[in-house]
Amino acid sequence: MADTVTAPAVRAAKGERKLVMITAYDAPTAAVADRSGVDMILVGDSLANVVLGHDTTLSVTVDDMVHHTAAVTRTAHRALVVADLPWLSYHVSETDTVRNAGRLIREGGVGAVKLEGGRKRVRMVDALVGAEIPVMGHLGLTPQSVHAMGGYKVQGRNEQAARELMQDAKALDAAGVFAIVLEGMPDVLARLITASVTVPTIGIGAGPGCDGQVLVFHDALGFHDGHYPKFVRRYASLFDTAVTALSAYCDDVRGGTFPGPEETYSMPDDAARALLGDGRSAD
Ligand code: KIV
Repeated sequence: MADTVTAPAVRAAKGERKLVMITAYDAPTAAVADRSGVDMILVGDSLANVVLGHDTTLSVTVDDMVHHTAAVTRTAHRALVVADLPWLSYHVSETDTVRNAGRLIREGGVGAVKLEGGRKRVRMVDALVGAEIPVMGHLGLTPQSVHAMGGYKVQGRNEQAARELMQDAKALDAAGVFAIVLEGMPDVLARLITASVTVPTIGIGAGPGCDGQVLVFHDALGFHDGHYPKFVRRYASLFDTAVTALSAYCDDVRGGTFPGPEETYSMPDDAARALLGDGRSAD
């Protein structure tokens, strides 16, 4: 347990070192993420778009999140695993919110949960902190608000909207979150928010002035053939590598070269001859 990253350790890292977070959704992606040395693994509700083929994150349920989160925590033993509370799982009542977060802790095995929104969510953050559940905030382009925002648009681009987001960040900080994701906002605003809160900010499409960065696993590794947002840096091209590899597999099967002798089980010659019953070799 000595090397396990905790929510208090993440909070204490502000001003000391940059924090790194990446999403993961299952055992193999969690194993890669944990082995790479990231501080935090986020089981994001981007599960909906990235893994389950939905158009928005709104379709994901608490059951979906618990299922995938448990697979991640079975494999990742060092990074702090944070799970997203899905849309409507923390909007109705404090009781609901604590119960749903409790499932992610107890059944999913995570060390913290994340929720979207600012001052509107302070009541729920209070309830979670009161139940000893570490909470990460998420401000700016919050995908669960896609309909309210009128699409996936960069937020805080005028002075009034920017000031609102600064107030939201301060409210979350005062309510006791241990970190705040800042998504899709101008770099100057992210820098100001970072300087005005006591907890680390983790940016995604918010420029270099945050205390850390987060990317979606499949974006960072080039593991899809869809749209890559401007803020993504691709560190590999796994989709192309995988298509090339499986095309070679198709060629080998169709050309009769797979499986070869090294991929085939044999039996002793005499047993094979007896089985064939006519003295023919098994080859
Ligand atoms: O669900 C997700 O992947 C996220 C990150 C983009 C921060 O919330």
